[in-house]
Amino acid sequence: MKAIEIRNKYLNFFKSKGHSVIPSAPVIPENDPSVLFTTAGMQPLVPYLLGQKHPAGTRLTDFQKCVRTNDIDEVGDNRHLTYFEMLGNWSLGDYFKEESIAMSFEFLTKELGIPAEKLSVTCFAGDEDCAKDEISFEAWKKAGIPEERIYFFGKDDNWWIAGEEGPCGPDTEMFYDTGKPKCSDKCDPSCSCGKYVEIWNNVFMEFYKDKNGYSKLKQKNVDTGLGLERMTMLMQGKETPFEIELFAPVMKELERLQKVDNIQSRRIITEHLRSGMMIINDGGRPSNSDEGYILRRLLRRMTRHLNKLGIDLGKLSEIIDVSIDSLKELYPELDVNRDEIKKVIIEEKDKFMKTLQNGEREFEKVASRAKKLGKTVIDTEAVFNLYETYGFPPEMTEELAMEEGLKVDMSDYKRLFKEHQEKSRQGMDQKFKGGLASTGEMETKYHTATHLLNAALKVVLGDHVHQKGSNITAERMRFDFSHGAKMTDEEKQKVEELVNNYIKMNILVEKLEMSKDEAIKMGAEAMFLEKYGDIVTVYKIGDVSIELCGGPHVNKTGDLGHFKIKKEEASSAGVRRIKAVLE
Ligand code: ALA
Repeated sequence: MKAIEIRNKYLNFFKSKGHSVIPSAPVIPENDPSVLFTTAGMQPLVPYLLGQKHPAGTRLTDFQKCVRTNDIDEVGDNRHLTYFEMLGNWSLGDYFKEESIAMSFEFLTKELGIPAEKLSVTCFAGDEDCAKDEISFEAWKKAGIPEERIYFFGKDDNWWIAGEEGPCGPDTEMFYDTGKPKCSDKCDPSCSCGKYVEIWNNVFMEFYKDKNGYSKLKQKNVDTGLGLERMTMLMQGKETPFEIELFAPVMKELERLQKVDNIQSRRIITEHLRSGMMIINDGGRPSNSDEGYILRRLLRRMTRHLNKLGIDLGKLSEIIDVSIDSLKELYPELDVNRDEIKKVIIEEKDKFMKTLQNGEREFEKVASRAKKLGKTVIDTEAVFNLYETYGFPPEMTEELAMEEGLKVDMSDYKRLFKEHQEKSRQGMDQKFKGGLASTGEMETKYHTATHLLNAALKVVLGDHVHQKGSNITAERMRFDFSHGAKMTDEEKQKVEELVNNYIKMNILVEKLEMSKDEAIKMGAEAMFLEKYGDIVTVYKIGDVSIELCGGPHVNKTGDLGHFKIKKEEASSAGVRRIKAVLE
């Protein structure tokens, strides 16, 4: 069974159980500054898990494009991926544990044909925050899983939350038994030896966690996630995801082109290329901060490994073609944006090659300094600095050192690397801390301000202006829009005045629900029209603005205060970026 068939079966199955199929959100979240990437299907749905009414109803299903970069350094082994597709189904205060479990069991055994004997499940063992999940236990028994294959674990294994704060709850996880022997008497689904592979997670979200602890949500939700690549791998009886049709053709092409054999490198190239393409496709561009930095890291690591395999970098365009051709059935948009994707990747590769040259110069300095001092070894700090500043892998430094008759001291490298990793991880965790769900008063004001700014830009610059992206924190807003030239001071002033006029007019912000066709007829602005479902939420601000948007927004524009543009700059080709504040 191919990945596309599994995806289609999943969506059709849940459709037949009364779920509306909603589109995937982009991998770079719109209007959610608390995370760099969409990491789970529930993330774009947080407002609805908290009780806001979803226009498509109380039963939803989708496939969600996800990026998780915590384990970026593990890619190359037989399982880690930075990009993956999550199939999910949600109950927003509709069905709960029993029905959710019955549907999962039916899907796995009837639709995918997995024998029930291959399945083990885990449930929450209970603690001071939440009771033992006897209901899930009974539901699994009723479905046909015998008691001895139902395990209970604590919060570490059977509790799910995105980050530090937000909707959460106990979960029940389903595991596929690969048939390998148990690694020890204690081997169970919590063991990572590879016997049991986690395939699906159903979270029973009835709690909200913040710094004061847990409280009950207004409604009981179900949030599930099934990793498409992993399921495809199991259904095809493969040992690693790199053997399925989404990756295998690229792996093979690399094998054909390589001068040096290294399977880890081939996996890293194949995986990072796909991840990079999905990020670029949703508007990401390499840069030195946030998602742009992650994208840069992915593309540079890919280039480094192409070098390592001795592959001519002039072949990159062909390798990209092979990858897009293997993925286009799942993501036709990659085919549409093929040229732009190639351009971004090849430009970044060229930039990196220049950095490598600078790194080589730095290496020469380090080496001659060592020699002058009569040393035969390059110290750990220098090796690490070459990695951190110039992206020089230590193996490469070691190779160069050998040519100079020097050795490298790697004794402390691991510690320095760990420290560095810990720092970047902390940076990431920080991003979560704002709380996925906590759209505060200021963020809400900024949301409304983006609509007014969009409208004012159209008046001043012309109808070619469309939103290309936005990012909001409690302190400022960032707004990307299509426009070919730098704005003049006069234009900026006019836009500012216009927005402040709209604010003074204290116009009512109306929330409307309608069909997508109606919204188009009314001339509503939308960033990715094709990505919305059939019923959409539209925010109308008098005669000034009408936009498709999930909100939240203020009730009247008068609440916004004074609008000020801080900066106007280029974002990417044909796209300008405005940074602005409300004072
Ligand atoms: N949100 C849950 C997960 O990511 C389903 O595992």
